[in-house]
Parts: sequence; structure tokens; C-alpha cells
Amino acid sequence: MNISELIGEMTLREKIGQLCQVQPNGRDQEHRVRDGMVGSLINVTGDDAYFYQSQAVEHSRLKIPLLLGRDVIHGFNTIFPIPLGQAASFDPRAVRTAAAIAAREANSAGVNWTFSPMLDVSRDPRWGRVAEGFGEDPYLVSLYGRAMIEGYQSEKIAACAKHFVGYGASEGGRDYSEASIPPRQLHDVYLRPFREAVDAGVLTVMSAFTDLDGVPCTGNAALIRDLLKIRMGFGGLVVSDWNSVTEMITHGFAGDEANAAFHALAAGIDMEMASNSFLDHLENMIAGGEVPLEWIDAAVRRVLEVKQRLGLFDEPYGPERTGIAANDALFNARSLAHKSCVLLKNEATLPLGEGIRRLAVIGPLADAAADQLGCWVFDADHNRTRTVLSGLRERLGDVRVDYVAGLPHSRSNDEAGIPHAIEAACRADAVVLCLGEDADLSGEAHCRAHIGLPGAQQRLLEAIAGTGKPIVTVLMAGRPLVLGPVIERSGAVLLAWHPGSMGGVAITDILFGEEPGGRLPMSLPRSVGQVPVYYNHKNTGRPPDQKGPAIPAGTPLDPSGFVATYIDEDHRPLFPFGYGLSYTDFTYSDILLSTDRMPADGQLKASVLVTNTGNKTGNEVVQLYVRDLVGSVTRPVRELKDFQRISLAPGESRRVEFEVEASDLAFCDIRFRQAVEPGEYRLWIGPNSASGPDILFRIE
Ligand code: GLC
Repeated sequence: MNISELIGEMTLREKIGQLCQVQPNGRDQEHRVRDGMVGSLINVTGDDAYFYQSQAVEHSRLKIPLLLGRDVIHGFNTIFPIPLGQAASFDPRAVRTAAAIAAREANSAGVNWTFSPMLDVSRDPRWGRVAEGFGEDPYLVSLYGRAMIEGYQSEKIAACAKHFVGYGASEGGRDYSEASIPPRQLHDVYLRPFREAVDAGVLTVMSAFTDLDGVPCTGNAALIRDLLKIRMGFGGLVVSDWNSVTEMITHGFAGDEANAAFHALAAGIDMEMASNSFLDHLENMIAGGEVPLEWIDAAVRRVLEVKQRLGLFDEPYGPERTGIAANDALFNARSLAHKSCVLLKNEATLPLGEGIRRLAVIGPLADAAADQLGCWVFDADHNRTRTVLSGLRERLGDVRVDYVAGLPHSRSNDEAGIPHAIEAACRADAVVLCLGEDADLSGEAHCRAHIGLPGAQQRLLEAIAGTGKPIVTVLMAGRPLVLGPVIERSGAVLLAWHPGSMGGVAITDILFGEEPGGRLPMSLPRSVGQVPVYYNHKNTGRPPDQKGPAIPAGTPLDPSGFVATYIDEDHRPLFPFGYGLSYTDFTYSDILLSTDRMPADGQLKASVLVTNTGNKTGNEVVQLYVRDLVGSVTRPVRELKDFQRISLAPGESRRVEFEVEASDLAFCDIRFRQAVEPGEYRLWIGPNSASGPDILFRIE
């Protein structure tokens, strides 16, 4: 298909039509599609998807295929752990596989565009959408973004890097709020995953709802046209978010819908999602000379080129497919759930012994098939879901398993069921207590000001702890929770996030010996008052780990020192980024470098000896961090630069080696250039962002 020739044949209305994405109500968009007045439909699958595609490619004048978009966020019929859980796997390859499976399932239902991956670096667990992202570290978010994009697009559905840009910094963790991001942080933290996505060949980008320094992203020409399209070289299409074009009126940035359409098109938005300002006003604005036809043609070209790169002109219904074997999909869902679960505590409790004769399974999330899937699961095949209760009952055969929910649901304060739960615990050899958040306590527009256990769950935990029985607390949640009381009262704590269709079986496997592979992609706060708390922060002039100036005698404050901390809370998270236990123990020793100095275009090798000092084979995620000790601007106290997942037998030692490229240490310097600066650096290799041996090197 020659795109230029096609554009040359299109009427103005047909061109404007390509810039519109609408959600039909049943088949009410049939005539508009036949008239070539729609470029994309959203939330259409199955027979309706094929119906509309046939109207476009068989009955419209130019037979231009439709983009059929859907939020395939962490699976389609088979649901994988939420993206935050997938991030805990520290296994981008597994995430790529999951995305490819999701794409095949979605494409078999007519979907050829997913609004995923969400690449919003997020450091505020109050924000409901942390569930949809990959956490607080830009390097990790970038790796997963690439993995998902490759997974989706390898199976012929367009990926969408969203939300461009800075949505994760929504003030107060309140969705849709203003984001105040300093320019260097924007560049080094929030933009980094999008640079990686463009380099990975992502076909589409979605603008954010966010008011960024007074300019809504959807109308921000400096961001979209100049930075994303010109300087970053993005060649695909930019779609607005839902109504984010006309919401610029509410922002106070556009006077009316025509003005909103003008701002969006001028900024480089190529397709308007949901609202109709393009359809209603562009034709008149071109006739009136307010909008140059070149803008329309440029947007149409991008839309048509995405359709061409997806192969839709040749295969508008998608490639011939043999269905995905559900077992294959479920096997991968189970495996990824194993790797996503983070073991936070284990005091002689896990794995549960096969000698258990009676087990109490308690809590509102023990048999909550819908809730364990998490947010954004419109097309889930709920028959595939296996809960903790069903997983335990299947595995334990003749062992008696008593189930008591204890509470009607996670938010309930109805404690009437707690006495029955206590009775079940008293009769049992051990208790598996499944607590956390319903699926609808996270996700879009589901932010929480209090991020402890909802409802009466803490009281349920206290009551069960009072029985003195061994307790394994399994937590399902769409965000980091404040878990202090849970940690204190449980023998073991497993954070499973919302683990997806096979979550219950994967958790059962772990309770009886399969190793939990997860490491934290977000720091877990001690209290919501600490938020934002994240590992790659700046040192400040008075870091809390060094004593500040002497405090004058008689100072009323608690002598915590004049340093960056609280007088009523520890400054550190409860558990740091990268943290997670396994069923054995590891030591790190003898950190070495191939050289202690390298040129700004050089590289060096760093290695450490890792030993399994336990009596079980175990997996470890060996993590490499670097700190630039003195820069032309201040630098984070640590930054993750690489990691490797290894497996060691009991007593086995292995030297784990990394290649460190000086170019990986570049950042936005005092003159806003991406620069590698000479000077001294500290390098750690360890089990998480707060420990591990370190060594110094220089860049000349
Ligand atoms: C929503 C979300 C966006 C999603 C889109 C389509 O408002 O912000 O992430 O892809 O609308 O559902």
C-alpha cells in the first residue's frame, strides 16, 4: 500500500475520520465506519470486532482497516500477575512471554492494539495505578517496557507506551492530579522508559491526563511534537487518553472544544480517544484557515503507517492463528506468579511440612477468584482462575482443610465471622491467612489515603495470632501496603500482589516448597507519612545516616539530630527496593573489578562471590548498583544498573560477573546534556538496594 497515494485519494472528512477513536454502543457505529469516518474503535472484541472490521475493509470507499484497541494490561483470557507483580519477578524474558501470550489471545478475539505497557515510574503507593506499572526504578521500568512491547508486537498487536509523561508523580497520589517534576528528574527518571520504548520500536504512545508544570500533556507541543517526535525520533502515532483532549477545557488550558482540538493537533496528538472535538471542529477550522491541512495529513500519515506496519492492509483480520493452548498459557501464568511472589518474612514457618494433618485457610482473599486477578481484566476467562483454597485442597488431598473467610470482603468491618475463624485456627496445625485488597481497591481512580489492611483485617489477624498457631500470611494487593503489624504477628509473610489466574496454585506451590522468586520493585513504607519513600533518592546535605551538627543543650526535640529524618518515624522503608527472601541463605564476598579506572567510553567487569550457605537449592537475584559520588549536579545514592538471577545448590559458590559500561552512567548534567562525567564512583553488588559489599572505581 502506497500511503502517499492513499492520502491523495482521501477526502478531508475521511482524513479527519482516521484521527478519531470511538467506543461503539453495540453496532451503532456501522454507518460511520462504512463512510470511512472512523480510524479506530475501542473496547470491541469477538464478533463485533470482525463485524466492524468487515464494514471497513469490505464496504467503505477506500477499504482502510480499523485499529481495534483494548486494555490488555496483564493478560486477556489468561490473567498474569498485575504488572507490579510481574516487575517483582526481575525476569523481563518471562514478562515478554506473558505479553506475547496475551497478544495471541487478544488477537484471536479481533484486538490489534493494546494500551499497554504503562511506563509511569511510580514512587507513591497511594496512587491506585502503581498496580499497572513496574515500580520506582527507571532502569527496571525501561527493561519491562521493552519486554512487553516486543512481546505484543511480535504477535501483531500494536503496543502503546503510556502515559506520556510523568503521570506517576500525580500530587498526593491522587489520580489525574498535577505533577511537579524538576526538568532533570523528568529527563533521567520519567522520560527514560519512553526513550527505551521508542528504541524498542513501539508503534503508539498515549498522552497523559497530567498537568505538567501548567501545560496538560495532551496539549504540550514541547513534549510531544518537539521532544517525542523530533528529538526522540518517535515515528508512530500518539493517541490522547480518554477525553483528555476536551478535558483541557476543564484544566483551564482551552476555551472550548475547537480550541482543545487545536491545542491537541498542534501539540502532535494524532488520534483523539473518546471525545469528538476533532470530528466536530477540524473541518471548519481548516476551512477557516485556523488549522493547516499539513497538520491533518501528517497525523493521517502516522495512523496509516501504523496500520501498514501491523500488516492490516494485507491481513485486516490478523494472521491465521491456531488457538493458544490454555494449558500453555496457564503454565506460564503459574511460573510468572511463582517469580512474582515476594517472601518478606519467614521465621521457621515455611515451607509447610507435608506432615500437616489439618490446615485452617482463613481470610477474605482465600477464595476470592475475582479479586486475585486484580485490576483491568475485562476479558478474563474466570473458569481458569484457581484460588488459594482450591490450590490447597487439590494439593493436600486427605489433609483436612477448614475454610473460614472471617470477613465478608476485604473492606468489611463486620466481625461476626471472626469467632468461627478462631475456632478453625484452634483446631488446625497451622493457619494460612489470606489478606489484602479487593481488586477494585487499586487501578485507575482507586487511590487510597490510608494504605494499611482495609476493613477489620488487622483485627482478624490479631484474633488468629491470639491462638498461638503458626500463621502464614499471604497478602494480595495492587500496591505496597503498610505492613508493620502484619509482619509482627505472622510467622511468615508472602506478598503475592494480585497474582492472576493461577495465583492460588502458585502460592500453594510456594507454601509447600517451590521457591518464591520475587524481589520488591517498590520500597515498602513503614507508614503512609513517609511517602514518597524510594531507594534512588538524593543524599541531601544532612543524610540521616550521619550525625548532624551538635544539638544545643536543652533542645526540646528528641535528639535524632538535625538530619533528614522524622522525630516520630524511622526514615528507612520497612523493606527496601530489591528485597526478597528465598528458602535458603546467601552470602556475598570478595567483590572485584577488572580495573579500578576506565575512560568515559570504556567498560569494566565487576564480580562478586555468592555462596548458598543454606541446605536447599535456591534462586538469588544478584543486583548491581552504582553511585556517582560527585557530579556537576547531585546524584542518587544508588542506582540499579544490572541484575542476574542465579540458582545455587547448598554449599555452592559462584563468581557472578557483570559488565559495566561507562555509557550506562550517563545523566542529565548541569548543562542539560546527557553526559558521562569523570570522577569517583562506588559500586555495590548485593541482594537488594540496602546491602552488599562495595568497591570504588574512577572514570577518567
Ligand atoms: C483510561 C486510562 C488509559 C486507558 C484508556 C482506555 O482512562 O487512563 O490508561 O488505556 O482510558 O481505557
